[in-house]
Amino acid sequence: MTHRILILGGTTEARQLAGKLARRADLSVTLSLAGRTESPVAQGVPVRTGGFGGAEGLAAYLGQERIHLLIDATHPYAARISANAAEAASQTGVPIFALRRSGWEPVAGDRWTLVDSVAEAAQALGAAPRRVFLAIGRQEASAFEVAPQHRYLIRSVDPVEPKLAVPDATYILSRGPFPEANERVLLETHGIDAIVSKNSGGEATYGKIAAARALGIEVIMVRRSPLPDVPSAETVDQLAEMVDHFFGPVAERGV
Ligand SMILES: NC(=O)c1ccc[n+]([C@@H]2O[C@H](COP(=O)([O-])OP(=O)(O)OC[C@H]3O[C@@H](n4cnc5c(N)ncnc54)[C@H](OP(=O)(O)O)[C@@H]3O)[C@@H](O)[C@H]2O)c1
Repeated sequence: MTHRILILGGTTEARQLAGKLARRADLSVTLSLAGRTESPVAQGVPVRTGGFGGAEGLAAYLGQERIHLLIDATHPYAARISANAAEAASQTGVPIFALRRSGWEPVAGDRWTLVDSVAEAAQALGAAPRRVFLAIGRQEASAFEVAPQHRYLIRSVDPVEPKLAVPDATYILSRGPFPEANERVLLETHGIDAIVSKNSGGEATYGKIAAARALGIEVIMVRRSPLPDVPSAETVDQLAEMVDHFFGPVAERGV
């Protein structure tokens, strides 16, 4: 029997997990992307793109596609789709696992200011003009228009459109991973004195945090919102093991 798995993705780990699971001959894996990124990197498994239409839409999709297992491997800050996934799983009785990457913890030398939202981060920069590196993606960058006194360096995968209504903003288009040495050069070149970051966890975007520590730069860290409590793993390998355990062992595809 072929077991049908839907992975909700949009992260490097989701792509890695899809590739790993696709090696099992008895699994049929589809990866779902929101469709935010104009040219997502090749995913290696069949991809479907775009929203489902809330928890109800996702529940309908699970039924139509006869999905046996739903895996939420979305970004830790994509709270709505994670809530929808838990709700759709509970509505349909389709089992759900989540890949929940753990967040970074501050270490000696870090200068973190913790805030609960991107809007709060904009306030936490204070009244005096600063040179700010925004590393939160493009979707919420406009929250900083309320603080036009600062100079902004804004990095995103896709262009920020429309541009921010602030007098001084520089845009960089780039996709991680971002090694610490490169981040350090970037911070120094632009004379950055504050970084706004999400607590994404993982290695790929930790370079700026380590570089900020080395340079004594403040990091305004946006806290995570709570996510639904579903069976979860912290790494791709652990989640793949959960799937193996769930469906039972089987020979891998090919030789
Ligand atoms: N938020 C971040 O910082 C961040 C960072 C890196 C990558 N991402 C990725 O970017 C995507 C969008 O993030 P977001 O913060 O906008 O999410 P979100 O606020 O949780 O979700 C908004 C809506 O987008 C649709 N959606 C989200 N992820 C989807 C997926 N994998 N497949 C199909 N539809 C999806 C859903 O629409 P419907 O209700 O119509 O189904 C959802 O209600 C996610 O896949 C996430 O993994 C987000």
